[in-house]
Amino acid sequence: MERHNGQNDRKAVDRTTPLVSNQIFIEMGRNLLTAALLVPLVCILFFKYQDGDFTLMIYEKIGKDPSVALRGKVVWITGASSGIGEYLAYELTKHGCKLVLSARRKEKLDKIKKKCADIATGLDSSFKKDQEILVLPLDLVKYDTHENLTQDVLKHFGKIDILVNNGGRSQNSLVKNTPLEVDRALLDLNLIGTISLTKAVLPHMIDRHNGQVVIVSSILGKFGHPFVSTYCASKHALQGYFDSARIELAEHNVHVQTVLPGPVKSEVSLHAFTEDVKVEFKDSQDFLDIANKLGMSTERCARLMAVGMANNLDETWISENPSLVLQEVFDGGNKENVEKELVTRDFLVLETKRPDCEDMGDSNDGDFTLMIYEKISRDPGVALRGKVVWITGASSGIGEYLAYELAKYGCKLVLSARRKAELERVKEKCAAIANGLDSSFKKDQDILVLPLDLTEFESHEKLTQEVLKHFGKVDILVNNGARSQRSLVKKTSLEVDKALLDSNLIGTISLTKAVLPHMIARHYGQLVIVSSVLGKFGWPYGATYCASKHALQGYFDSARIELTEHNIRVQTVLPGPVKSNIGRHAFTEDVKVEFENTPNYREYEGKMPTERCAKLMVVGMANNLDELWISNNPMLLMTYANQYFPTVFKWYEFSVRIMEVYLTTPLLFRVHALH
Ligand SMILES: NC(=O)c1ccc[n+]([C@@H]2O[C@H](COP(=O)([O-])OP(=O)(O)OC[C@H]3O[C@@H](n4cnc5c(N)ncnc54)[C@H](OP(=O)(O)O)[C@@H]3O)[C@@H](O)[C@H]2O)c1
Repeated sequence: MERHNGQNDRKAVDRTTPLVSNQIFIEMGRNLLTAALLVPLVCILFFKYQDGDFTLMIYEKIGKDPSVALRGKVVWITGASSGIGEYLAYELTKHGCKLVLSARRKEKLDKIKKKCADIATGLDSSFKKDQEILVLPLDLVKYDTHENLTQDVLKHFGKIDILVNNGGRSQNSLVKNTPLEVDRALLDLNLIGTISLTKAVLPHMIDRHNGQVVIVSSILGKFGHPFVSTYCASKHALQGYFDSARIELAEHNVHVQTVLPGPVKSEVSLHAFTEDVKVEFKDSQDFLDIANKLGMSTERCARLMAVGMANNLDETWISENPSLVLQEVFDGGNKENVEKELVTRDFLVLETKRPDCEDMGDSNDGDFTLMIYEKISRDPGVALRGKVVWITGASSGIGEYLAYELAKYGCKLVLSARRKAELERVKEKCAAIANGLDSSFKKDQDILVLPLDLTEFESHEKLTQEVLKHFGKVDILVNNGARSQRSLVKKTSLEVDKALLDSNLIGTISLTKAVLPHMIARHYGQLVIVSSVLGKFGWPYGATYCASKHALQGYFDSARIELTEHNIRVQTVLPGPVKSNIGRHAFTEDVKVEFENTPNYREYEGKMPTERCAKLMVVGMANNLDELWISNNPMLLMTYANQYFPTVFKWYEFSVRIMEVYLTTPLLFRVHALH
């Protein structure tokens, strides 16, 4: 019995050890499970009650009180007749601001003025309505009125402290169904109208060495989305333009703030552009009041904007969290299923689009994915052989070298740009390369020289028909032609802005639209967009160029999602500084003068070889990569920094570039000769 008991004890002891360790494992497992449940719960709670970015949330608690910081300021609000502009007017009234209310509908502005006056009188009986609130009807696309209107404000108030560029319209139409007329009307309003009014006000702010320019952009200024491609383009462009302007204008003590709201209750869905330039979304069959259905409260948005304005925050995000939005989209939309899928896909790809980069050695001159694909990818000779590739901007630089590279792989080429003689030169060289590798290559059959001006939009359809007549198909369109810029915001005329946007942005959209019906009919195609790393962040001396490249990112990130169902791939290529003639032909302050004809002309030495850029582009094209970054360092590293550590990057960028803007030659040229 004793022995038996002893055995039992031993057994018990034997069992105790594993039991203890089991308990440890069970305990650990329980803790991990609790953590796994709690962390998402805390995150959900955190995000549920958070409706602005982290910095903004902190400033709301401990930042300057808007009633102290903004009291007595003269604030000019565009788009003040409804939505965010209207509620911002009420919010600023509470903080003792003097207001200029602008929009097209005067009767609505008068009503809002009355309501502002009621709020103000309730707080301060000495408030004088007609002295402290000015109703100033304005049409953002009537650019020639903007200077006179600015003078009207100055006559009334003697100063403008803050300009809030809030007016604009949204969109609800697919790329494939939207005529260029709509794209142009939307960009004229949201982008050029905003730039024009800012330029009218800027001399006054620079003279006073004081001012604040607020841009109401959108979260769609950060990523693409189906049905709103041109709207995304306009908001991306505003980000690019005003991120550049922020750096340039700091020396004049003019602060630039971009505000990125998510869905906010307003009239924005009602007046959205549709496929017909004359029809607003509210009058179309598909009408769905998305903003009012999904949006956060307009008062809350206005409140958070005031916090950002009072505390001079550079960029504020104001939105409820996307899970709520997604939920609403699925529950309430009256769209087709496929459209819902597109929306989800876009939300899902948002944060997963780019790979992480651990290893950023100096030998890297492309993003991490591209570097891997270069080593282990499909052979371009197999993937691209026999493809018909139409390259714009093929008369020099990247386009020219891309033609040579593609000639090696047996592609059939359409070479386009304005200078025919240069295109003929490139054709001869391509033919020599191709013949050296394949004697059956026939120069005049396999290479078509097709002069094209990107700004002659009405010629693009006819040129597309010429390509189809010659080759019977277009497999790949490489939208590469563009011009750069070397001029400060404050000195650049609107004429230059418009000319640059016409060639780089609208020209690219126009040619794409001419080719798209053919690709859709074939259920096959590839669109390659040569953007720039400056499509990701701002840069002094290149605000409008940055706007055009940011806009291309927004437009084609949206188009990528929409066109997937037609088996059309969209690739954006973002080169850093590459050897070419881009600097020579850059726009300057004078629309007729190219950069090489100014005394300031200098070329930046550290650009990567054009051949290498073309080689990497071909790797991306052969492997259908969505987005390629091609640059040597430090620009590549900066692009990564901007993507993964945007706040740190902005601080760094701002402090380094600002020094360069302040300093004169030769540092100045280091800055503005990069793109
Ligand atoms: N090189 C860089 O450092 C760099 C960096 C980032 C992005 N990029 C981008 O790369 C692309 C190619 O530029 P690049 O560096 O090769 O410069 P580039 O040598 O100046 O080539 C630009 C090409 O665009 C054509 N072009 C300009 N305006 C046009 C118009 N209105 N209509 C038709 N064609 C037009 C030019 O031809 P014609 O004058 O004969 O018309 C030329 O073939 C551009 O999109 C540029 O923004 C370049």
